[in-house]
Amino acid sequence: MANLWVRKSLDKLVMETGDGEKGLKRTLGAANLVALGIGAIIGAGLFVRTAAAIAERAGPSVTLAFLVAGLGCAFAGLCYAEFAAMIPIAGSAYTYSYTTMGELAAWIIGWDLVLEYAVGAATVAIAWSEYLNKLLVDVLHVAPIPYEWRHSPFDAQFTDTAGVVHSGIINLPAVFILLMLTLILIRGTQESALLNALIVVTKVTIVILVIALGWGFMNPGNHTPYLPEAGTYTTSQGVTHAYGGIMGILGAAGVVFFAFIGFDAVSTAAQEAKNPAKDMPIGILGSLVVCTVLYVLFAHVLSGLAPVDFFRDPTRGGEASVAAAITTYMPGYAWLSKFVTVAILAGFSSVILVMLLGQSRVFYSMSRDGLVPPVFSEVHPKFQTPWKSNWIFFVVTGLFAAFVPGNIVGEMTSIGTLFAFMLVCAGVWILRVREPDRYRAFKTPMVPLVPILGIVVCGAMIYGLGWTNWLRLIVWLLIGFVIYFGYSAKHSVAAREASGRAPSP
Ligand code: ALA
Repeated sequence: MANLWVRKSLDKLVMETGDGEKGLKRTLGAANLVALGIGAIIGAGLFVRTAAAIAERAGPSVTLAFLVAGLGCAFAGLCYAEFAAMIPIAGSAYTYSYTTMGELAAWIIGWDLVLEYAVGAATVAIAWSEYLNKLLVDVLHVAPIPYEWRHSPFDAQFTDTAGVVHSGIINLPAVFILLMLTLILIRGTQESALLNALIVVTKVTIVILVIALGWGFMNPGNHTPYLPEAGTYTTSQGVTHAYGGIMGILGAAGVVFFAFIGFDAVSTAAQEAKNPAKDMPIGILGSLVVCTVLYVLFAHVLSGLAPVDFFRDPTRGGEASVAAAITTYMPGYAWLSKFVTVAILAGFSSVILVMLLGQSRVFYSMSRDGLVPPVFSEVHPKFQTPWKSNWIFFVVTGLFAAFVPGNIVGEMTSIGTLFAFMLVCAGVWILRVREPDRYRAFKTPMVPLVPILGIVVCGAMIYGLGWTNWLRLIVWLLIGFVIYFGYSAKHSVAAREASGRAPSP
């Protein structure tokens, strides 16, 4: 019999952190964690999804969407920080929910985090592919990669100047970058964190440059009306959803929420942090605050540079949007467009790296708990990384990146993560009621108000994302249930210990 409500003991969890033999190396300090956070945060959300949110959901009011998304993340981040400091174990939200809400909830979150990390990595890889093409054409002045080989079969068709219609077959550059980063990851996180620190500086620099230099090129006409009238928009896949008005802002918030994903990935590295109780809250909240300020300013500039139609047109600003907007609307700044293109390719790589890292860590924890097969926690004898898990997720992320359009994987990532965040908020509250006296190195302020606000704001974004995304989340969860009842419940270590059963074969 499955024991859906069995919980892992918190004391046992904390003890496991010190567990040497199978454990991961402890090499990251607070500065590394903030860098890891910003490294994970600034990426495709800002440099690709923002333009999509302007085009398809909110026009210039995308800045308000960033505020809504940032607010939701702040509430959820405060909850994350309490957990991350208290349970400094690889596995993030998954682990937290195991101790508070029991195994089924933990499974749902762990399974949901595949959307956040693996599908998220695929989304960024697709963005990488767009900017790679920009690099070839605008920076290196060579021929573009043929449309067919850098788009999914479900992307919009493209008619060239000779009138020939092109359809996507596979997104090869996206698969290529996933392969490269998987190889780096297998070599170990310390080296990756060093490289990451360099990339973070570059990324923040280009964001600030675009804001500062683009400010003078904003056309007030593009910001009028700031809040478009409520209406609808039909995507290239034929899905109609709200555009403009409050629903437009909520939908856009769900889309650009992608840009904030990653601050929680810091918590997945808790097991590799030198002083998790102090460093985790700094890492999570610090990276979140820096990014929110930059995002709102950046979105204001981007929506002021070009009209909405520009971002709706795949041959103009619909792909590699930021570089395209600079080239077209900031005369004399071709160098900036080139710099952005080169820098963001490196920037995207660091995001993908952290997401792949987060993914393998979550499944590492789940595997040690018996919920997914042991192969996910096999550590490489020399590199001490879960290398088989890395390979498996290369295949999974590669398939998504190769064959699914960026807006679909992007929104799937958002909705999956938002749902996980809601459960984390609930978890903090539950644990406060259940174990009020437990020592908390960092306490979420104003519980239960902050968790409730986190649930409400994240829930509003889920609502804004619309029924196609709700449906995808439901199907994803149903697949998860099949795996849970078919495998996980039978192999669960916690359930076995609770019932005194012998291990399953
Ligand atoms: N926040 C990350 C990005 O925007 C996932 O690429």
